[in-house]
Amino acid sequence: MAEDFDGIKEENNKPPLGWMIFYLSLAAWLVVYNIIYSPDIMGYSWNKIHEDEMKPLKEKLAQGKLESAKEKASGKIDAGKVMSAKCAMCHGADFKGQGTAPDLTAKKLANDELVTVITNGRNGMPPFKGQLSDDEIKAIAQQLSK
Ligand code: HEC
Repeated sequence: MAEDFDGIKEENNKPPLGWMIFYLSLAAWLVVYNIIYSPDIMGYSWNKIHEDEMKPLKEKLAQGKLESAKEKASGKIDAGKVMSAKCAMCHGADFKGQGTAPDLTAKKLANDELVTVITNGRNGMPPFKGQLSDDEIKAIAQQLSK
């Protein structure tokens, strides 16, 4: 259909088919989207999803069973494994002593003395400050004084 204003003609092109398909499918998607994600129609709710996910954690929190990330991390230290990697070459694979390195299973030292020796070293015993975390040293001392 063409318009004619004072001799100036304005032609009218049909919209390209591809654009019409795109446009109509967008409109259709708008309808579908609103049906699926409207809380009033299908009951969809981010808030509810969040509440469902938090439920087990909230129960744990209420029971005082929720451990902090730090507790979780320190609980995972395997003192025996750390010692096999860092201490066995001097103190022996069974930690019963070897050469000048004494028996670590003899339980001669108290927990805080163990922490001091491991952290700062002593004579031929190298300091592990900086090489092992405080938590790792604590876990080893715990293990050796058990
Ligand atoms: C380079 C060898 C070497 C390594 C590695 C080593 N130690 Fe020692 N350690 C020694 C020696 C040598 C002594 C004896 C020090 C002394 O005579 O005062 C010793 C002493 C000790 C003592 C004192 C024991 C006592 O009865 O007085 C403890 C505890 C100890 N080491 C723990 C460890 C732990 C835990 C590790 C691993 C994190 C470790 N050591 C790694 C060589 C080592």
